[in-house]
Amino acid sequence: MRTQVAIIGSGPSGLLLGQLLNDAGIDNVILERSSQEHVLSRIRAGVLEEGMCAMLDEAGAGSRMHAEGLPHDGFDLTFDGKRHRIDLHGLTGGKRVMVYGQTEVTRDLMDRREATGGKTIYEAAEVTPGDFDGPKPFVTWVENGVARRIDCDFIAGCDGFHGVSRKSVPEGAIQTFERVYPFGWLGIIADVPPVSHELIYANHTRGFALCSMRSTTRSRYYVQCPLTDTVEDWSDARFWDEIRRRLPAHVGEAMAIGPSVEKSLAPLRSFVAEPMRFGRLFLVGDAAHIVPPTGAKGLNLAASDVRYLFDALREHYDEKSAAGIDHYSQRALARVWKAERFSWWMTSLMHLFPEIGGFGGAFGQKMQEAELDYLVQSRAASTALAENYVGLPY
Ligand code: APR
Ligand code: PHB
Repeated sequence: MRTQVAIIGSGPSGLLLGQLLNDAGIDNVILERSSQEHVLSRIRAGVLEEGMCAMLDEAGAGSRMHAEGLPHDGFDLTFDGKRHRIDLHGLTGGKRVMVYGQTEVTRDLMDRREATGGKTIYEAAEVTPGDFDGPKPFVTWVENGVARRIDCDFIAGCDGFHGVSRKSVPEGAIQTFERVYPFGWLGIIADVPPVSHELIYANHTRGFALCSMRSTTRSRYYVQCPLTDTVEDWSDARFWDEIRRRLPAHVGEAMAIGPSVEKSLAPLRSFVAEPMRFGRLFLVGDAAHIVPPTGAKGLNLAASDVRYLFDALREHYDEKSAAGIDHYSQRALARVWKAERFSWWMTSLMHLFPEIGGFGGAFGQKMQEAELDYLVQSRAASTALAENYVGLPY
């Protein structure tokens, strides 16, 4: 078998890249470890920057997002019993974000791939990239017990944090940067109307809480919890009681509650691998970097990586220019690090930190309160928050 670009992983990164390549007439095959149903069962964040929305449109997969997604012009910060709105639209000269679940983005891209004849091999075991340092890379895998191989010009490693692509790079050629946070997020989905028509990020002495949504009838809520907790520790009753205590009284009292339809616990991590290109292998999305979910940058960073890589590959095939390929890692990382900084900052500002090495504790809480106060009183500080939240330019 032969293709121009072998894509490992059928998450949002692989699907978006694959679709743009398809539409540009560049042949590609996606190799995915799991089944299609399994990929579609994963629930993740759901705030899309305008750049991501534009790319979904470009890939011909944006119509349901426009019909069913919820455009948001702002969000609320709550702390010390107060509630303050960040006017994204007003502070950024007319920008907004779109609330639309990542699962739906994945489904729309899969439907579009199927409709346009793109090839995806699901349940591909032992996927292994080979010879990407030389001119003739290939990928091998096992399909229904049979060893297979595809030769290609390039390999796009879109296989997430736990994928094989990054692990295939010799240790000395890659540098990683990591911070693991000393808490997790317990998230639920419930079929109750959201407590507010915009998102609420809550700083509280009991810990962080977030009120988000999937639609006008489906809420997505989170509370910060210790990493040692399990989902079993959190009955629905305990969850509703806790999240309401972390919100200003009038908000908590207005919250509709009901049985959860999904409940999960996620750790928080910041991670970057440098560089993002090794010869003819590119790392894209979560394969190269992870952000904590405060600020919802994960999916949006995957989109900007795909933008840079797709443009680079098109330049290579259409204009016979290697400039985009040579600059992919540098261009992508410049934006990645800014989003890493923003996600780390928003995480640090909003969560309760145990006392570690002088950070967190009572002093840390005072620093957060002072910064939050400054943030909501200073237009300059609010603008910096808004500008990052809606997404920095590609
Ligand atoms: N072989 C083949 N496929 C693999 C392998 C492997 N060895 N390892 C992982 N995969 C697949 C996974 O099953 C998954 O479907 O790669 C895909 C990676 O998808 P994601 O983890 O969703 O990563 P990405 O497409 O980069 O999307 C980034 O996902 O985690 C969120 O917050 C993140 O929103 C961001 C988005
Ligand atoms: C979500 O809706 O799941 C969500 C929204 C905003 C975030 C993180 C997650 O910052």
